[in-house]
Amino acid sequence: MASMTERAWAAFPAGSNGEFDLPAALAIVVARGEGCRLWDSEGREFLDFSMGWGSALVGHASAEVVEAAVRQAPLGANFAHVNENALLLAEEILRLSPACEQVRFCASGTEATMYCLRLARAFTGRDRIVKFEGAYHGAHEVGVTSLFPTRLRDFPEPDPTSAGIDPPVGEQVLVAPFNDLETTARILARHASEIAAVIVEPLQRCTPPVPGFLEGLRALCDEHEILLLFDEVVTGFRLAYGGAQEYYGVVPDLVAYGKALGGGYPIGAFGGRADAMALVREDRLGRDGYVWMASSLGGNPISTAAARAALSVLARPGCHDHLHGLGAYLRDRLARVLADRGETARIIGDGPLAQVVFTDRPVRDYRDTRAGDAAKGRALMLALFARGVFLNPMGTKLYLSLAHDEAVCDAFVDRFDDALRAVAGDG
Ligand SMILES: Cc1ncc(COP(=O)(O)O)c(C=O)c1O
Repeated sequence: MASMTERAWAAFPAGSNGEFDLPAALAIVVARGEGCRLWDSEGREFLDFSMGWGSALVGHASAEVVEAAVRQAPLGANFAHVNENALLLAEEILRLSPACEQVRFCASGTEATMYCLRLARAFTGRDRIVKFEGAYHGAHEVGVTSLFPTRLRDFPEPDPTSAGIDPPVGEQVLVAPFNDLETTARILARHASEIAAVIVEPLQRCTPPVPGFLEGLRALCDEHEILLLFDEVVTGFRLAYGGAQEYYGVVPDLVAYGKALGGGYPIGAFGGRADAMALVREDRLGRDGYVWMASSLGGNPISTAAARAALSVLARPGCHDHLHGLGAYLRDRLARVLADRGETARIIGDGPLAQVVFTDRPVRDYRDTRAGDAAKGRALMLALFARGVFLNPMGTKLYLSLAHDEAVCDAFVDRFDDALRAVAGDG
């Protein structure tokens, strides 16, 4: 009888549903999760530092989210129509999100950023989009362009990263270096009349914006009448209850949400200026500038019930102080272990996010990250996996949650230290 992992390799390309690239010997099939722990189909326990790629910010199977989903389940899973949970959730998002005058739900972060981009193009009547090298905005054409460029091109030339990209769409993306306002300003000035939007992860992967960068983007977009799009799929509800907008004090024109919003359930949301959001009004169908938007599962009552429960937890006083404190604790402990072992590395991240980059140079953009020793990062990730730590194998981004505490971080750091010793070849 084949094992679950053998069956996964037969059923899925690389044994994965699009999450990982692990050698067969380390592959697992997850059976269940609780708090910050996972168990695989053979009963092995893992400390989870991926947390559903950050979607389970309140922890796996948190009591509040489970209760809300279970209460809704017998009342119907989907109506493809405004329902009470969706409406109450929308009202809460309008309260917490500085940019959102109106909002709509879809089923993923990919859809949310896609709709923001489409709205920006329709609203401005321009086609080109500026994105930052190394940023991810979901699986669509713009989202993956220059995500992991195969070669470093001169800015603003895009690299597709994925085969099968619609060539005209790829060519419409102009690529800028994150945290480099000067180069970005030059690109915007040169192409202003063609650019619909600048899309940015306010905290790009784990690289924080340098002071003034987001404010500078806001000013440049205002100057050139370009829409500023915040992809808050990761930062939303995580860096602060009001997300990166509240945390960094910069308000975009449009914003995309996903991940933590759903408490682990599938959801996406996008919102912003009412004059731009008005383009999706169905009573405009057939008129110039109407933007098609529809999602069979968007705003379904189970995801929105789970999201309301997750937000009620994340809105509690002290919640984000706790998440920031824990992130700082983990980054500090990792820095010490790396220093004690004589490793040249930088720990980046903010709030409940951390990433180790084996480099001696400050990390300000994708090229700094890429200059790091990726082979060592990969070896370390595999060594941690073998020591019962579940990570996102596609990157070395560590996601903490409300279910983590200092004791769990300490256990992680001990295994990290041991893995580092093994990778260095002295253990
Ligand atoms: C910043 C960012 N935007 C968008 C997405 C896409 O979200 P989803 O996977 O829900 O489509 C992701 C996913 O990792 C993300 O990190």
